[in-house]
Amino acid sequence: MPTKQLHLGAVMRPVAIHTAWWRYPGAYPDANFNLAHIVRFIRTLEAACFDAFFMADHLAVMNMPVRALQRSATVSSFEPMTLLSALAMATERIGLVATASTTFEEPLHVARRFASLDRISNGRAGWNVVTTANPDAALNFGLTEHVEHDERYRRARDFLCVVEGFWGDARPVIVQAGASEAGRQFAAETAEVIFGSSRTIDDARLFHRDVKARAAAAGRSCKILPGAMVTVGRTRAEAWEKKALLDSLVHPDSGMPNLSIRLGIDASGFDLDAPLPDIPPSNQSQSQRDTLVALARRDHLTVRQLAQMVGGFGGLEMVGTAGEIADTMQEWLETGAADGFNIMFPTMPTGLDDFVELVIPELRRRGLFRREYEGTTLRDHLGLPRLVND
Ligand SMILES: Cc1cc2nc3c(=O)[nH]c(=O)nc-3n(C[C@H](O)[C@H](O)[C@H](O)COP(=O)(O)O)c2cc1C
Repeated sequence: MPTKQLHLGAVMRPVAIHTAWWRYPGAYPDANFNLAHIVRFIRTLEAACFDAFFMADHLAVMNMPVRALQRSATVSSFEPMTLLSALAMATERIGLVATASTTFEEPLHVARRFASLDRISNGRAGWNVVTTANPDAALNFGLTEHVEHDERYRRARDFLCVVEGFWGDARPVIVQAGASEAGRQFAAETAEVIFGSSRTIDDARLFHRDVKARAAAAGRSCKILPGAMVTVGRTRAEAWEKKALLDSLVHPDSGMPNLSIRLGIDASGFDLDAPLPDIPPSNQSQSQRDTLVALARRDHLTVRQLAQMVGGFGGLEMVGTAGEIADTMQEWLETGAADGFNIMFPTMPTGLDDFVELVIPELRRRGLFRREYEGTTLRDHLGLPRLVND
């Protein structure tokens, strides 16, 4: 029996991560704003013993063309703390994690809200401390431009110090997702859980080693959970058919702006059903452009097919049978790439139901995931110490 076990969070803002999920057969297109549906989702996650339900938050709509936003169900959501307070009453064990920004909020407000949620939920609250990357958020807070990146992290340190000063001995769990130099250092020195965004096992190992070494140098430890979109089928062919169907539902209005960003060129005039034309060099990421051009050439993809691929979801994906998904998760866990995963569902409710019905039993069969909660608080689930504030 393996000694290490996976920690699993569920990313639930938006409720499903693929931009076309709301067009998938059986989808609940209004689920981001339907409390009854969300209660059903969190109860399913709790029955499967997930560590936490995570509500990301953004203080402005995504920085994308309106035509693309109109074809996406990822634009907005319930205010996280209001939602999690309601969900605390519908559940008993699962952790409740929400994002709050250190750039645009005030420490007293954040301290009160999370301390309240922690008491209401009997120790299940977690705060994802973000400095807010989207520059449009500044415009919603009376600023004409965004606060400079490293200044945001300086403020975040002071902010967290003040918030911790307000809290007593029952501290919510601190979560962080910084990726830059300043972000990694801040996460390593302060966070108990770190959300990673590595797309390959090699990158994840490097990130893991780097951040754990920084944390150890600060006399601390932390859990690292990369985000992963998981598409599972009863057979490998079924899993890939599900993915192909979902990708085919990405509308060109949504896929093409994403493709333009990734290629570093305005692709809106390209013939959708022709092969990708030659792409001149640009000032944007060259590796991303080269990877996509090579993929299009190798697989003889049309512009439409390429836009569907990049428009759906850009991060780490796992596609296959429950055995294949479990193999991948086990390898990441046992070779120092992850302490668990933040699961992103490709569709809702089918993506969630498939994961719980197929992947969870396979992980349990291998001794990689709990069969029941051992404790009652989020700290208990994550194996974190109960802290006493001096
Ligand atoms: C799993 C995950 C969840 C995130 N959630 C949020 C969020 O809810 N709100 C937000 O503004 N940024 C969110 N981010 C972005 C990070 O906070 C951060 O801005 C980004 O990783 C860039 O890192 P940097 O600020 O160190 O450059 C998230 C990132 C990841 C990987």
